[in-house]
Amino acid sequence: MPIHVLPEFLINQIAAGEVVERPASVVKELLENSLDAGARSITVEVEQGGKRLIRVTDDGHGIAKADMNLALQRHATSKITSLEDLEAVASLGFRGEALSSIASVSRLRLTSRTDGETHAWQISIKSQETATAMPAAGETGTRIELRDLFYNVPARRKFLRTDRTEYSHIDELVKKMALARFDVGFELVHDGKTVRRLPPAIEPEMQAQRVARLCGSEFLDHALVIDEQTGDLSLQGWVAEPRYNRAHADRQFFFVNGRIVRDRVIAHAVRQAFRDVLFHGRHPAFVLYLQMPARAVDVNVHPQKHEVRFRDSRMVHDFLYSSLHRRLADAGVGAGALRPGTEVAEGGSGSAVTVFPRQVGMGLGIREQISQYAPSRMRYGRLSGTFYSMAVTRRLCCIYRCRPARLM
Ligand SMILES: Nc1ncnc2c1ncn2[C@@H]1O[C@H](COP(=O)(O)OP(=O)(O)OP(=O)(O)O)[C@@H](O)[C@H]1O
Ligand SMILES: [Mg+2]
Repeated sequence: MPIHVLPEFLINQIAAGEVVERPASVVKELLENSLDAGARSITVEVEQGGKRLIRVTDDGHGIAKADMNLALQRHATSKITSLEDLEAVASLGFRGEALSSIASVSRLRLTSRTDGETHAWQISIKSQETATAMPAAGETGTRIELRDLFYNVPARRKFLRTDRTEYSHIDELVKKMALARFDVGFELVHDGKTVRRLPPAIEPEMQAQRVARLCGSEFLDHALVIDEQTGDLSLQGWVAEPRYNRAHADRQFFFVNGRIVRDRVIAHAVRQAFRDVLFHGRHPAFVLYLQMPARAVDVNVHPQKHEVRFRDSRMVHDFLYSSLHRRLADAGVGAGALRPGTEVAEGGSGSAVTVFPRQVGMGLGIREQISQYAPSRMRYGRLSGTFYSMAVTRRLCCIYRCRPARLM
């Protein structure tokens, strides 16, 4: 086959393959656009897990009538103009390809009104042709509505899961965005029913309330507040003390300059900080915000922008590790705070906990009993008539006094 340049529409569909994995990825792009537009209130409406309809309405600065078609073109953006900008991206978006990708795999309608206009304008996109803007009703802000995701790419549609599963991804995404931006109100409506309504949370108590609503009040009850600063780096948020730990890494939210990210450097630093106080296979819980100069982090490394690259990853790692480690130790729940043979804190399953070096603790001869419910490295037993649970980490052995009822 001779070499030829692909048609624009196909190029967009190929790009959509990277950017639009499922309805939740569309919601992510639209929410990011709304936040970049300075929205203070955003409503997300979805039907059938987002497969049938996704509608995001914001009160941001809107798109001028003359720019509406441009916004849907590939590589068209208002967020960067030069390489310099790209090296210090302050907005969530910058690639100028989300809307064109989304429009290439769905039926999209864009309605927007800027300040000073007397009414909104609307365009409906059909097969990537330039559309004529029509007057429409609407307040200042933007509404993007798309129907029948992947209607023209049946192979992709087949990969979608049940409505329920797709909806749960959207809910999780909205949750992350709501944790990222306390100053913005969010509403999530699924199949006509309001599922989440989160007013803006400006005061610290309101922010804590939002965290409790999104992560559970148990998380907040066990959370230590983090507020650390070293040079240009600052870390704020909440980290749960080790006894509130999880079987899955499902309460781990890490934001870098307001962007939710998964990152190996971060994950390693957190794991290290918890290394001696968590059992193997258990996961810590946290909601953490790292702020750093935009130039110190490269956000242009992943099509969906889930990952970042730190220019000095060692420094970031050490800052995170030492901040978390110190905070746990200060609260008397970190390995640094534990002295062999001392009683230091409430045990997960009973009263006081005594900590020994591993070999000493293991050699105490607690008669193992019971229990099929015990997590793999948690053992239960009895010593001199008192019931204990014993947790063994790589370096330490923690012995908790506990109630017999716990053992039965
Ligand atoms: N909700 C919105 N409010 C105001 N302007 C918007 C909104 N959504 C999109 N835009 C405008 O449309 C442009 C294109 O959006 P699109 O999401 O395709 O690209 P981007 O956000 O610039 O970059 P990225 O592809 O990384 O998301 C944006 O740069 C912005 O100017
Ligand atoms: Mg965008």
